[in-house]
Amino acid sequence: MTHDPQNVTVLRGRVLTFLEQPQGHDDTASYRYIEDGAVVIGPDGKIIMIGEYKPEAAAHHKVIDHRPHLILPGLIDPHTHFPQMQVIASYAGNLLEWLNTYTFVEEQRFADAAHAERIAGLFLDELIRHGTTTAAAYCSVHPQSVDAFFGAALERNMLMIGGKVMMDRNAPASLCDTPQRGYDETKAGIAKWHGHGRGLYAITPRFAITSSPEQMEMAEALAREYPELHIQTHVDENLAEIEFARELFPNLPDYLGIYERYHLLGPKTLLGHCIHLTHRECEVLADTQSVAVWCPTSNLFIGSGLFDRDRLAGHGARIAVATDIGGGTSYSMLRTLDEGYKVLQLRGQRLDPLASFYMMTLGNARALGLDDRIGALAPRREADIVVLNSRATPQMALRMEAVDSLWNELFLLQTCGDDRAVVETYVMGRPMKTGLES
Ligand code: GUN
Ligand code: ZN
Repeated sequence: MTHDPQNVTVLRGRVLTFLEQPQGHDDTASYRYIEDGAVVIGPDGKIIMIGEYKPEAAAHHKVIDHRPHLILPGLIDPHTHFPQMQVIASYAGNLLEWLNTYTFVEEQRFADAAHAERIAGLFLDELIRHGTTTAAAYCSVHPQSVDAFFGAALERNMLMIGGKVMMDRNAPASLCDTPQRGYDETKAGIAKWHGHGRGLYAITPRFAITSSPEQMEMAEALAREYPELHIQTHVDENLAEIEFARELFPNLPDYLGIYERYHLLGPKTLLGHCIHLTHRECEVLADTQSVAVWCPTSNLFIGSGLFDRDRLAGHGARIAVATDIGGGTSYSMLRTLDEGYKVLQLRGQRLDPLASFYMMTLGNARALGLDDRIGALAPRREADIVVLNSRATPQMALRMEAVDSLWNELFLLQTCGDDRAVVETYVMGRPMKTGLES
């Protein structure tokens, strides 16, 4: 393909992109790092090439010099709830109290399209401020919330996955659909938004507690009709939740067995939490290649439990990591992995910073089945990019004086970094963060 050189942009900086899942501290083959690197972006918003920076580039192309900062693929958040921006920091003793006292109250406000539009725009701007370029988000039960979410994503040209939550019981009446309405509204949402711009619709039965068997059958029918779509739901987050779900669906072996019964498991299924799994559930997870989505800040804040990464990995299960706003407390994937690190410390497990940065980028892209489009800096990938400053705060700058390797720098960024470390966020080659702040 030829490009008008005037419309080609070159980002100059310290380029870092993963090639494979790191197999340990010294696995330098798992990533590509270019000290004085260039990411060359075409007018279509796709990456043409990456490599060493060549001074001649400045004669032909627009060069944006981000030295000494790191240039990475945009961060990916595979489990979040956009209607919960104003739920963050709600004081509750456990999951069901938190849902009933705050979340199911707040989500009722999304019947109002104007409110949904305001929050959807603020949500995506917040993701941009934190360097996140793709998310898989739950909307509320209202189709208006889906329109607001995908409309805001379209305006920003962001690759977003989302869907209306299907829920028809154990919640306030105004937050419940019916099996038929859940089916019809999901179908309409798919027709309207799936493949529109960069939007991808996800079939979203909220969790087994809020869906009747009839609604689960409708979700099953949708999954059969649209096998290419993601499915997102929650499982095994909290012990009381598990007990309630099992009472509602008796005669099944366990909680995951409910989704299995309705044929909702598979490589495109994203299962939030997966904290309290039985041995059988670990095996089903691995056999179906469904994705366990670890949400460390949420699991700590709500007090749900400590994710057992090594146990799941030992079973061969696929794992992603996410914020789970607003049970989660930070939009930042850096903060999320910092809390994840501490969770694994308490479990006697290790989280190497190479593994963390892999998970936030290529790992989560693979979990979403989107690694042919995002998650890496490579030719033909969509140019969703984050630029990180490891000296963003005085204490980080001081600590950096004693940092002597990329590995240590990544660990510092993960441990102390947040939105202040995000210098710029590019969406399809377009700078978005500085635009928000001007
Ligand atoms: N389970 C069902 N809905 C939710 C939710 O909104 N947040 C969390 N953390 N768990 C859930
Ligand atoms: Zn969630």
